[in-house]
Amino acid sequence: MKKNLNILKTKTKIELGKNSYYVFLGYLLKKISSLLGKEKYGNKILILSDKNVFPIYGETVKNAVVSKGKEVTEIILPPGEKSKNLKRVEEIIGFCASGKMSRDDTVLTLGGGVISDLGGFAASIYMRGINFISCPTSLLAQVDASIGGKTGINLPFGKNLVGSFYQPSAVYVDFNTLLTLPEREKKQGMAEIIKYGIIKSRKLFQLLETIELSGLIEKLPDIIEQCVKIKGNVVEKDEREKTGFREILNFGHTLGHAIEIAYSPRLNHGESVALGMVGESYLGWKTGLCGKDVFKKIKAVVEQFKLPVSYRNIEIDSILKYLWYDKKVKKNKLRFVLPEKIGTVKKGMELNQKEINYALKEMVRNERY
Ligand code: NAD
Ligand code: GLY
Repeated sequence: MKKNLNILKTKTKIELGKNSYYVFLGYLLKKISSLLGKEKYGNKILILSDKNVFPIYGETVKNAVVSKGKEVTEIILPPGEKSKNLKRVEEIIGFCASGKMSRDDTVLTLGGGVISDLGGFAASIYMRGINFISCPTSLLAQVDASIGGKTGINLPFGKNLVGSFYQPSAVYVDFNTLLTLPEREKKQGMAEIIKYGIIKSRKLFQLLETIELSGLIEKLPDIIEQCVKIKGNVVEKDEREKTGFREILNFGHTLGHAIEIAYSPRLNHGESVALGMVGESYLGWKTGLCGKDVFKKIKAVVEQFKLPVSYRNIEIDSILKYLWYDKKVKKNKLRFVLPEKIGTVKKGMELNQKEINYALKEMVRNERY
């Protein structure tokens, strides 16, 4: 019998005043008609998806729209980061215009973080903002990319350099979509999940420590709900990254982004963040912010989910130069989010390149601990 992961069905509200919205968790895609049927989503729904996801789930969503007497069109893009560019935005908004979509119509994204970032951005600028519903189908998008309103695209100079803060009208998650997600993609999501445990929830981290890989999939609905609440809570406190609190979501990403730039496509985002979390917890230990036990625990959990932990094949000198592209660099200073203990991190930790270089090389030399 086919597995059913929608064993948990909840609605989590992200409280952002007039930008508030619900994250529906554990709802069947075919039942999205009850959401889309609402008048406020207009008469025209444009589905944005990719060539991996649409053939599996597209018809179900289309039928749900049609069952409510609404008009449905679709744009299906090649999968992956290469679709997250300005040309695609132009294509999407051009399609909206030629289809005479008005402000009360809706862009619905069906796919991973690439699709929600791109579709969310297009929805934010077409007619200065039309409805946007996100149906995230990758683990990473369910726990991270679909929550919090960061939308955007890449430029040839770097990732996510053009974008907007634009909250969706709703996020609709059918956990069963995870059943078709490739293993390597699942692991990318796991890296972000481990991050949430480290930055905000000892309880989540302890749960992760007890999970066997073979039993992971059934535990995901509960874990995803915890992550949505954690990210939602951080975003509620600093929606537009004004106070700096949202920076804590960047734990593991300072080194992680530098590693990703230097080693993509050999290492993907999640694998780079996994290495970033290991490296940054080593920095936490070496700066005296946390104990060695915290570093060891973080490394062990990352390894448990078969994510990389060793810097043996990483050239430290080559990643250090990319650290300067980090958005947290201020007044020419490199700033990190480092762990204090499991569940608590400290942001704005300034380290110079020499200190980082020394610590990371020492970490590689002692890789047995
Ligand atoms: P993705 O959208 O490329 O999806 C990963 C792969 O999985 C793709 O090949 C996709 O076709 C496939 N896929 C997705 N769902 C599937 C399913 N259910 N079954 C089979 N295949 C499926 O990438 P991603 O990892 O989901 O997201 C990464 C993107 O998200 C990056 O561009 C990153 O910058 C962005 N992101 C944004 C935020 C944010 O806050 N906006 C946060 C984190 C990441
Ligand atoms: N992914 C980091 C953020 O949403 O702020």
